Formats: sequence, C-alpha cells, structure tokens
Amino acid sequence: MVAENTLKKTNMIQIDIQNALDDKIGLRNGISKRVLNNFLKKKNPLVKTIFQSKNKSGYDFLNLPDDQNLLRKIKKFVSDQQKHKWDNIVVLGIGGSALGGIALKDALLGTYHYLQKKPHLFFVDNIDPNFVAELLSVIQLEKSLFIVISKSGGTTEPMALYSLIREKLLKKKIKNPQKHFVFVTDPKKGLLRPLGKKGNIPMFDIPQKVGGRFSVLSSVGLIPAALAGIDVTALLRGAKKMRELIKKSKSGDNPALILAALQFLLDRKKGKIMTVMMPYSNPLFRVSDWYRQLLSESIGKNSRTGPTPINALGTTDQHSQLQLYNEGPNNKWFIFLHVLKHTDPLKLGDHLPKKLDFLNGKKLSEVIDAAYHGTAESLAKNKRPNITLHIPKINAEIMGALFMLFEFQIALLGLMYKVDAFNQPGVEQSKLITKKILLKQ
Ligand code: PA5
Repeated sequence: MVAENTLKKTNMIQIDIQNALDDKIGLRNGISKRVLNNFLKKKNPLVKTIFQSKNKSGYDFLNLPDDQNLLRKIKKFVSDQQKHKWDNIVVLGIGGSALGGIALKDALLGTYHYLQKKPHLFFVDNIDPNFVAELLSVIQLEKSLFIVISKSGGTTEPMALYSLIREKLLKKKIKNPQKHFVFVTDPKKGLLRPLGKKGNIPMFDIPQKVGGRFSVLSSVGLIPAALAGIDVTALLRGAKKMRELIKKSKSGDNPALILAALQFLLDRKKGKIMTVMMPYSNPLFRVSDWYRQLLSESIGKNSRTGPTPINALGTTDQHSQLQLYNEGPNNKWFIFLHVLKHTDPLKLGDHLPKKLDFLNGKKLSEVIDAAYHGTAESLAKNKRPNITLHIPKINAEIMGALFMLFEFQIALLGLMYKVDAFNQPGVEQSKLITKKILLKQ
C-alpha cells in the first residue's frame, strides 16, 4: 500500500499516512487510495523535472550536500577560530538566514546548552531593543564572534545589528574589531561583500542560485553549526541520502512526492487550508518554525494559493490548541514528528496514588508516546486528517534528511500549485517600505 513502509529500508524516517485516508476518516475529509495513487503517478514526472533543473535558480539547493570543498574550508576556519577560545558565537541574521540554524541548535545542542559547555550559540534574529540589550548584558564582547548572515546584504535587521555591535566594539576600544566578525553572503551582490573586503573580514559565500529559506545546508547553516561543534559532515550526508532516496523511489514510495500530494489534495479537494506541524519533541520544535517559513514564503503567492502553516508542540500544546483542533473548524491537517528513540527514556518512580497508578513505573518516553498516539487517534476519530513522520532518533544525519525532504516537498508544491516557490515579492515590498520610512525620519 502507498507509503505504508516508506523509508523502512533506509533506517531514516518512516511516514504513516493511515489517518489521512478515507477508509480511516471518511471520504469527506480523507483521501482515497485510488485518488492518491493516480495523483502520485500523474505527478511523478515532476520529480525528474526538478532533478533536471538542479542547476537552475532556486533548485540549486539540491547540489548543496555535494560541496566537499566548503566542508574543507569550514573545517579549516573552525580550527583557526579555536585559538580565540570564543565563549559565544552570535549569529546576526533573519528569516532564511536564521531559522535553519536555530532548528539545528535546538535539535543538536539542546535547550539548555547555555548551561553546558562553550562556545554558546546565539541567534539574534530580531531588532527588539530589549531582546538585544539583554543579550549584550550577558555576553562579553571580547569573547564573542559575530556571524553576520545576509544573502542580499541589504536586510535592515542584520545590517542594523552589525552596525550596533561594531560601534560597541569600537567604544570598548577592543583591538582588531574585524577579528570578531565573519560574513556569510552572496558572492557578488550586496553591501556585505565590499564591507568585508575593506575590513579584511573572513567571508563565506551563499550560492547565488540558492534562496534564503533553502539555504540551511549551505554556509548559512553550516558555519554556525560547525563553530558550535555540530557534525556538519553527517548533516550533509543525511541530506544526500534523502536526495538519492527521493530520486530513485517509485511514485508510491517517494516521501517528498507523498508529502506534497497530501498537502495539495487535502488543501484543494478537502478544504484543509491550514497545515499544523506538531513535533512531539522539544528539540524538533524549531524545525516546525523553519518549515512554517518555507511553506509560507514559497507557496503563499496569490489569493487562491497558500496553505497557512501553524506550529504546535506536543504534549505542551495539547493543553492549548487541541480543543480547537479536535472540535473547531475542520479546515486543518496535521503533520506529527514522532521520535522513536530518546537519549534517555527516564524511568518514573512508583509514588502516585491509585487514580494515577497508570503512570507508576512507566518511562517518560512511554508517556509522551502514549500522548502522541492519543492525539493522533483522537484527531482521526474526529475525522481530522493527520500523518506522522516517525524519526528513529535525533542526530545530524536525520536533520540533514529532514531539511532535504521538506525542501523537495516544497519544490514539488511550487510546480503543483503553479507558483514560483523561490521568490518572495511580498517580503521585499515590506523591506522597501521600511527603508523609505527610515529615510524620512
Ligand atoms: O527566504 C528568504 O529569501 C527570506 O526569508 C530571507 O532569508 C530573509 O528576508 C533575509 O534575507 P537576507 O538573507 O538577504 O538578509
């Protein structure tokens, strides 16, 4: 059956789509296997189209896992930087220049890595003065390396932050302020490039044909991750494995095609105009933030086209959003990320009274598992389509695979919805108006 055992052989990610099918949730809300299979067969040639376009603008993200030269350069750069013994690596970037890195940080370094070993990795993706001032009050500039990431080199937020930090370094009379910076930017265009050349600041390229939100597997995601000790070789290896799997899979087994088909059919045929990504995993929560941008900016292009992405965290948001999801308007579908093996399953004691004795002696991993199954099942009972990506465990290779899987899904969706998945005129417009306002002040 379609996708039942998808990816089993790769030992990577398994997709379970039972709760999105009509035989489980009825034809009004679920997709019939016949319709899905026909759609998959019909759209299968798009996979080939995308691989054939891999050197064209936008699709170049497919080539990122092969950049061994970049890996070598990064390794050398990281070992050069180690002599500075930085306490803090601080990324100044926003949108596609930050969200992938944040997802990697949370997944692979953990929520409390600031209390553990150095260097600490921070992302300053907003220009809220309170947020920035707080960071500046807890880090020492002398012990911090700032990675300014901007593809265009013209985005207000990272450029304003760069200027602020440079000013602070100068005011503190810190010697060689340029050694506190590295720039990640377009190889030719933008203002960071000449600024970097003039200031003798190390620079890494973002390939010209790779867009911001598709750039996590380029120097954008790799430089901060590598400086913080994440295994970037494994990250690219995972992405490459997923790319090859997508390339060689038959239509009914192709994970990216199945994800894209379900998104398209549930939206267009069943009125599921919102997509909720809900990891039952704190480390993977920010993957859903990254995905939210990827889906919004890539597919939200006209008044008819653009499923609205929402993210939620299991179990936390069972106690916040699940009422709406189960009984409110049936206009959403759900993607669960479910982790099969945790670093430590954490066994509970035997201390609870009779009414709660179902918890006695259980592992925390069993409790969260039961909660995930309970939520998926209750949504299905209420005829709300949901699918699950079962993730064997969280590591760099899996993260690479997830990024590639979702990026490919979005590239397919661009073709299915017939929109340009790689531009963002709506974002650019706001940037321009902001600049005009500031010029008038
Ligand atoms: O996906 C995109 O292209 C955008 O979200 C950009 O990443 C974001 O606007 C930041 O742009 P830049 O990297 O040019 O500063």
